[in-house]
Amino acid sequence: MAKHKYTGIMGWIEDRLPIFSLLDNAVGTGYHTPKNLNYWWNFGSLAGFALVIQIITGIILAMYYNPSAAGAFESIEHIMRDVNYGWLMRYVHSNGGSLFFLVVFIHVFRGLYYGSFKAPRELLWMLGLVILLLMMMTAFTGYVLPWGQMSFWAATVITEFFSAIPGVGTDVVEWLRGSFAVDNATLNRFYSFHYLFPFLIVGIVIVHIWALHVHGSGNPKGINVKKGTSDTIPFHPFYTVKDLFGMGVFIVIFAVLVFYYPNLMSHPDNYIPANPGVTPPHIVPEWYFLPFYAILRAVTWEHLIPNAKLWGVIAMAGSIMILFVIPWIDKSKVRSMTFRPLSRIFFWIMVADVFLLGVVGAMPVDGIWIYLGQFGTAYYFLHFTVILYLLGKYEKTRPLPKSISEPVIRSEPVIQ
Ligand code: HEM
Repeated sequence: MAKHKYTGIMGWIEDRLPIFSLLDNAVGTGYHTPKNLNYWWNFGSLAGFALVIQIITGIILAMYYNPSAAGAFESIEHIMRDVNYGWLMRYVHSNGGSLFFLVVFIHVFRGLYYGSFKAPRELLWMLGLVILLLMMMTAFTGYVLPWGQMSFWAATVITEFFSAIPGVGTDVVEWLRGSFAVDNATLNRFYSFHYLFPFLIVGIVIVHIWALHVHGSGNPKGINVKKGTSDTIPFHPFYTVKDLFGMGVFIVIFAVLVFYYPNLMSHPDNYIPANPGVTPPHIVPEWYFLPFYAILRAVTWEHLIPNAKLWGVIAMAGSIMILFVIPWIDKSKVRSMTFRPLSRIFFWIMVADVFLLGVVGAMPVDGIWIYLGQFGTAYYFLHFTVILYLLGKYEKTRPLPKSISEPVIRSEPVIQ
């Protein structure tokens, strides 16, 4: 039998299925982690936590939900009013979706700031982006399920955009909707996908963590650390405790939202049953889609560009696709912005630009908002192409410490 530290029933299982050593190497004492991880490194575990909450509450909601155009809206009201703790499950699920995006966005921006996407973690980064795309598809299909006015019109507007694809556009739209218009067939397939995608996300998260463990976590200094040196500490108990603390804070914020402001993130129009005959004055997506929605609508020069709608769709898809190749655009060997003073400034300008796009996304395509949307979109692409490339090539970076402990040890008197 193989040598290991487990005895009794655990030893018996370990001999046949080395699951305890696997867990120990993943999140236990066997996983050597840089000792300087700050709170921005909490957001990966928080994302996993949010995903589990979504799946559990989603499965419970599915027990009472009726995926038909005639019954969906009423079944949600039934959940809210009649089902024991149905209101809680629904509010946790709807607000949980928002918080999941918030957590993942912070996780992504952490990656951009600390250069987590750089070699050797490019594939880890790309798997993350696939997760993000799947999350978007899950959120979009989920938003349609309550079959309120916003649900219906969001589904109509977004599927309609695919009509811009030359030649096959109309066919694609009908194929997506399963019908000539958004109706019962659309709701059915969206429900099916909404149930499926989270499990695909779970699968990719497992591969994401697997890829993470190949080279280990990065760290705020962005330098390579060697396992088992004074630069690392075991994941357990140090980071299990820190991650649990983060989850505690997350639960408090979550509870405030669910119990005091449960409809803060939702749109009042979605409490009106879907009506194909009445278009709401402003069709707005959920907040986490706003920057992308602004990019989609930025290309409005229908009189100048043939098929402007198609370019809007391409720009929106491109805003995520460009992130897949940034490990090869930003070629700087220095990962962390701590040692890249100029990049740091441009990082925050980019963050401000994304916020601007978020605001534009919530506004009607009118007046100054048209130009701000076009400016924001142009700058977004400029940042992730030209600016990142030039900074990677020409920026004068600050010297890197040799190890995480070096700057600390160096300041101490040398004892001989
Ligand atoms: C369901 C969504 C996700 C889950 C559950 C998840 C989970 C995790 C976990 C547990 C870690 C290790 C802890 C940490 O570094 O925070 C991690 C690291 C990482 N994740 Fe994610 N992740 C998700 C989405 C994403 C997305 C959307 C991206 C990027 C587009 C991404 C990119 C990364 C990178 C680059 C690292 C390594 C960071 C480093 O060590 O420097 N992840 N992820």
